[in-house]
Amino acid sequence: MQNDIQEVLISEEEIQSKVKELGATLSADYANRNPLVICVLKGAFIFMADLVKNITVPVEMDFMAVSSYGASTKSSGVVKIIKDLDVSVEGREVLIVEDIIDSGLTLSYLIELLENRGAETVRVVTLFDKPSGRKVELEAHYTGFDIPDAFIVGYGLDYAEHYRNLPYIGILKPEIYTS
Ligand code: PRP
Ligand code: MN
Ligand code: MG
Repeated sequence: MQNDIQEVLISEEEIQSKVKELGATLSADYANRNPLVICVLKGAFIFMADLVKNITVPVEMDFMAVSSYGASTKSSGVVKIIKDLDVSVEGREVLIVEDIIDSGLTLSYLIELLENRGAETVRVVTLFDKPSGRKVELEAHYTGFDIPDAFIVGYGLDYAEHYRNLPYIGILKPEIYTS
């Protein structure tokens, strides 16, 4: 276990078995629908890669990078597009892949954007959900794990761009982010 990690909250094995389960569910739900699976960078990149390997029906993929305008305006729900999609979502069955839902602001913005661009359906699969953090009402269609109100990192999730490469979900030692 890495030095900055206080505790492993969800092990690599638990994550991998959940991702397999989600892949099986999505393979059934999206059979014959040729969905456009959209990865929300950066956090979702590892989940996306593992998830699509467990989806056994044809899918197309695209990537989008978004970030909030800044800590002070985060609650306004203003999200900046760093990298937009390459393909049109018009008439498409869209599945957004996220690593975590906290306030819900990132996703509520994205869902509205893709609906306004003419997507036929927009659904969300998130590996982690922190319901205690919600500022807007939002529920994913597919969720891996509910997470308590703790500062977690790993499996794509960062603190100041670090720890994304950990294969498990860890709770960061408080002295790392309070110092
Ligand atoms: C994180 C996370 C989600 C979002 C969830 O992304 O990956 O995308 O925040 O928070 P919310 O529900 O409160 O909007 P972040 O903005 O840190 O960018 P990153 O994915 O590049 O780390
Ligand atoms: Mn993110
Ligand atoms: Mg982040």
